Amino acid sequence: MTPSAIQFITPLTFQALSGNPVSSQLLDVDEENAMSHINLARWADIILIAPATANSIAKFSHGFADDLLSTLYLAATCPIYIAPAMNQAMWHKSVTQDNITRLIKQNVHIIGPDSGTQACGEVGEGRMSEPLTIVQTICQQSVSVLKGVNVLISAGPTREAIDPVRYITNHSSGKMGYALAEAAHNAGANVTLISGPVSIPALSYIKTIYVESASEMSQAVISRAKDNTLYIGAAAVADYSPISISENKIKKHDDDMVIQLKKTQDILAHVASLPDRPFFVVGFAAETNNLAQYATQKLKQKKLDMIAANWVGQSQGGFNKDENALHVYWKSGHKHLEMTRKKQLATQLIALITEKMNEKSTT
Ligand code: PMT
Repeated sequence: MTPSAIQFITPLTFQALSGNPVSSQLLDVDEENAMSHINLARWADIILIAPATANSIAKFSHGFADDLLSTLYLAATCPIYIAPAMNQAMWHKSVTQDNITRLIKQNVHIIGPDSGTQACGEVGEGRMSEPLTIVQTICQQSVSVLKGVNVLISAGPTREAIDPVRYITNHSSGKMGYALAEAAHNAGANVTLISGPVSIPALSYIKTIYVESASEMSQAVISRAKDNTLYIGAAAVADYSPISISENKIKKHDDDMVIQLKKTQDILAHVASLPDRPFFVVGFAAETNNLAQYATQKLKQKKLDMIAANWVGQSQGGFNKDENALHVYWKSGHKHLEMTRKKQLATQLIALITEKMNEKSTT
């Protein structure tokens, strides 16, 4: 417990409720060599810091070591998980976000925070994730199930230009694809993200290739597919694009305008049919009706190993929402992943993909 934590709850309460000793002193006279931070760092298999304040996060990120917790952090060599909890404005401050990015670069796993009503009365992102969610995330990630595996992920929408000022696109924000990239990275994978135009800040620790159109995304994905073991197509790629792009802005006329469209290449189907295709190919299906039927058709027709289907055009989940639910299908089974934050859902999907990849490699 940090000095601040002790101001809220006494160590005795924690000790009585948990039945475990509580450490709070940097130099503990009861410890044989008065080096409790080194002993604790050696002893722990995993360290979870929850709730982690903006102050603690800043200290970890800059290597300060002036109390037991920050010294323990610095001395630790085991995996470290941090569950931030703070006021929403403090969480969104660029200095906090920079500190978080520095920690992720140091291979620290960040869980949450969640959105909702905060202790200070404000509403927003910054609440500590639910304890059960934290424990589940650690259980799923603590084994680096994709250690060293090359994973290619597409995310976001594409933009199909009509003329220099207009384009055709869709409602994808890239949140689902970026969450998958993070989850695969946390599971130890070498991730390459092919991103359509999104407003999500770059994930500095993930190699990201930015594209605009379906044909650029096609080229970026297909040229890299053979170097990857797993491909996940989470992008909402345009199915049609204008036959020709006008060099100049098309002038407004009194009558209606007709734009002729041509079919784009189906990147996912193409990747799955390559002779040296990735070992495991996962598609997404965005449906407004007949979800199970359309998803299983796509699974079969595109020769996929797995498809994750979601409802779109509804008030919950799908495009541009922080939460989603998935109906995941593979040749011999089906699993429903319930509505939850996309980051959490992505961790669950990566765990399921890994399980099915392992099954495939042993058959
Ligand atoms: O980005 P968010 O706002 O977080 O929203 C997430 C999402 C709804 C975009 C995502 O969860 C999702 O469903 N992505 C797939 C959207 C889509 O294009 O679905 P589809 O059913 O039209 O396509 C099926 C699959 O074929 C998809 O894996 C798609 O990437 C792929 N495809 C489609 C067309 C094409 N030309 N090439 C493709 O590879």
